[in-house]
Amino acid sequence: MAMWAGRFKKEESKDVNDFNSSISFDSRMFEQDILGSIAHATMLGHQNIISKADSELICKTLGEILEDIKCGKLLFDYDAEDIHMFVEAELTKRIGEVGKRLHTSRSRNDQVALDIRLYLRDEIKNIKDLTLNLINVILNLADKNKETIMPGYTHLQRAQPITFANHLLAYATMLARDIERLDDTNKRLNRNPLGSCALAGTTYNIDREMVASLLHMDSVTPNTLDGVSDRDFCVELASAIAIMQMHLSRFSEEIIMWSSWEFKFIDLDDAYSTGSSIMPQKKNPDIAELVRGKTGRVYGNLITLLTMLKGIPLAYNKDMQEDKQAIFDSVDTIKDCLKIFAPMLETMSVNKDNMKKAAAKGFINATDLADYLVKKGMAFRTAYKISGTLVAVCIDKNTTLEELPLEEYKKLSDLFEDDLYEAIDLRNATFKRTSQGASSIESTAKQIADLKKELGL
Ligand code: ARG
Repeated sequence: MAMWAGRFKKEESKDVNDFNSSISFDSRMFEQDILGSIAHATMLGHQNIISKADSELICKTLGEILEDIKCGKLLFDYDAEDIHMFVEAELTKRIGEVGKRLHTSRSRNDQVALDIRLYLRDEIKNIKDLTLNLINVILNLADKNKETIMPGYTHLQRAQPITFANHLLAYATMLARDIERLDDTNKRLNRNPLGSCALAGTTYNIDREMVASLLHMDSVTPNTLDGVSDRDFCVELASAIAIMQMHLSRFSEEIIMWSSWEFKFIDLDDAYSTGSSIMPQKKNPDIAELVRGKTGRVYGNLITLLTMLKGIPLAYNKDMQEDKQAIFDSVDTIKDCLKIFAPMLETMSVNKDNMKKAAAKGFINATDLADYLVKKGMAFRTAYKISGTLVAVCIDKNTTLEELPLEEYKKLSDLFEDDLYEAIDLRNATFKRTSQGASSIESTAKQIADLKKELGL
């Protein structure tokens, strides 16, 4: 029989119950639901809204229910409408009338708002830990590749020489920003909505601050209507995760390219690749492709949440039950991706020779040639033009800037001397880029050290 049978003349049909029920996906919040109820009951006892004895019995029994669920002794009833109803019904089953006092000055609207906050707070911590682990793997790989020269690209055209370390550090920097976004989301999420009492507050002498502090929350939500109907924190988290997933997707795209025969910059470990059912020679980067592919659903979840919220009046509406599958899917997906990404990177091998060979072609030292003239007094735009002309000469003669004889250079400017070859030497062009954040050994070492310090690694 439904909780609200007193008001209704007919039983709810099974189809309606199934359509309405959220327990199949909100049961994962059982621990947060019970901890929230324990905090609420403790406060009710402290404020003499219920007796101390009742409060203690409720808290003790809720603790037992929690243990029983954890060890598998108590199974969820999938006919229950949601996890909140299930726990309350179980409590009442165990301690009768006293259990019925728990819901004093509380609504499921408050409960669900609290439970998602507590659940996502835990998940933010998990996502952060996995991200830190991935950053650590990237930093170790960067540390080993501070002298690995590769072409840096713009428009996927070889542009300037960089190191593999600096390329990797770009991703570590993105992920560090992702952690900032998670921390920022947590600030607004970690506020207690319990005590909104459905929407309008209550005439009981409740202590919302006490509940907040029992649940290690920073503060209470300042407005009762907003407290139950705010899901901004879900949108913010879905957005932070979408950005992070986009970063992983870009990284995946590069891994897919780098492992192709056209590049062969890296080799993925066999354990992190798959074969083809028809083409025996194939070794496919499925993991990276799946991470890239899953970006679609993660973006979709963000749009789901924004769209679900856009038209609903204050305060709680059942539409909001749709928040959970979307945000849970984003959380699950990013965690899965982070978990698999770290060992995939850790086990891949780096083909330093192929990177170097690619860097030797494509005139990626043409900017350095222009800079050489600038350092001898020429204006950059003039030097840029001469350097471009020399690239055209090389293409014509099927040679490189390194191999082009000094006479050819002299035809275009008297400033060219023998030392030009040193200036355009690939190692010099790479490692003399000592500016902050660049590819020199010192600059990359500093970036690694700074990130470690910032993230406490
Ligand atoms: N299962 C609901 C949800 O996930 C809980 C709150 C329901 N409140 C209500 N008054 N129907 O949003």
